[in-house]
Amino acid sequence: MKGDNILKISVIGGGYVGLVTASCFAELGHTVRIIEIDNKKADLINAGKPPIYEDKLKGILHKAAGRNLSAQSHYDGIEDSEIIFICVGTPPQDDGSADLRYISSAADSIGTALSKSDQYHVITVKSTVPPGTTESVVQPTVLKSFGHHSSSLGFCMNPEFLREGRAIDDFMHPDRIVIGGDSQNAIDVAQKAYERLEAPIITTSLKAAEMIKYTSNAFLATKISFSNEIGNICKKIGIDVYDVMKGVGYDHRINPYFLNAGLGFGGSCFPKDVMALIRLAEKSGEDPVLLKSVIDVNEHQPGRIIQVLSRRIGDMKGKKIAVLGLAFKDNTDDIRDSRAIPVIEELLQTGATISAYDPMATETMKQVFPDLMYHSNAGDALDGADACLVLTEWPEFSDLKDEFNRMKNQVIIEGRKILSCSGIEGVCW
Ligand code: UDX
Repeated sequence: MKGDNILKISVIGGGYVGLVTASCFAELGHTVRIIEIDNKKADLINAGKPPIYEDKLKGILHKAAGRNLSAQSHYDGIEDSEIIFICVGTPPQDDGSADLRYISSAADSIGTALSKSDQYHVITVKSTVPPGTTESVVQPTVLKSFGHHSSSLGFCMNPEFLREGRAIDDFMHPDRIVIGGDSQNAIDVAQKAYERLEAPIITTSLKAAEMIKYTSNAFLATKISFSNEIGNICKKIGIDVYDVMKGVGYDHRINPYFLNAGLGFGGSCFPKDVMALIRLAEKSGEDPVLLKSVIDVNEHQPGRIIQVLSRRIGDMKGKKIAVLGLAFKDNTDDIRDSRAIPVIEELLQTGATISAYDPMATETMKQVFPDLMYHSNAGDALDGADACLVLTEWPEFSDLKDEFNRMKNQVIIEGRKILSCSGIEGVCW
């Protein structure tokens, strides 16, 4: 491995981003302290057990816990750290704008904890925050509780681009590392933390780094809504949108990624970040028509699979509909903003009975819909069904074949093009 700068790092927040970031920095050889206010989570982390599921996380956390990674619920000791990453949540408020209360509270606690230190520290925001937040919220809040010689603190903004289910690989093999800073000194320290990774480093102002994150997510969400709109047109005129996007994606100016049409985007980032960018634009006096359309297309997409189903089987009252795939995408148990939620809501309104299966997200979905019939495999969910909707792109669904013979009627509609057997209809193909 290249680079021999071993840093002492604190990571505020042991949630999804914080835990992945901390574990990966430990894997790179740094000494990492996680501040996680939930004692139970901190205990699990110290025992090498991830409180969340993420592919490959268990292995690296198990290796690091008790060696060069520890978790605690208080801020004592962070004054040892050269760099402190803020990885707390920025949930949406009722109007869609980002709630910065956890950011402010972390900034305040960091300032207080560092106030007795005479070392140089760099406070780095990794949470997704609206442009201007590091400068106008984090910096003044830290400095207020820090109370003296502000030149001994530097500030950076270093967005994450981690996909759930692939976050460890994304961290270890990034397309780029973006570091916004208030000084070259601060940027230099942040750069040292990533020295062992091979990736272009883009250094910018604090605000530009914050905007890069929102813009990346908004652009990817736009590609998806664009593909869905083209898919909706294609379906009307009898063209397979997947054939179209294959031909389109070969153009290197477009590229083949994120052109998969279907039920739209879910998850903890795209819907929330596009909405926050819309609110930010509106507050600055701009009318973001394109971004609003991205959300609009996305919200209508789940209803389209119900329309296809209703055209195929008519009145749904009392019919048994198998729903395969509950997670917002494959390889995760996360159902936040999953497209399965509006689909299930609409099905329930029609009086249908739902027989559901997901390889990982059954327990999380039970918290939203406790009364569905949940099964531990796809075949049982399909048993006696009048129709089946395949909603999430789980690889195991592409191998389903004989299981469909257990249905009463083989009406199979997919929300992403993954099934290989014949007679399948897609939401927009
Ligand atoms: C996303 C970003 O990719 C990541 O960089 C950011 O930091 C966090 O948000 P994530 O939400 O984990 O990551 O999932 P991603 O793989 O990007 O998929 C988001 C949603 O878009 C999923 O619902 C997925 O099914 C959907 N999607 C993705 C499509 O509908 N079509 C596609 O072609 C790709």
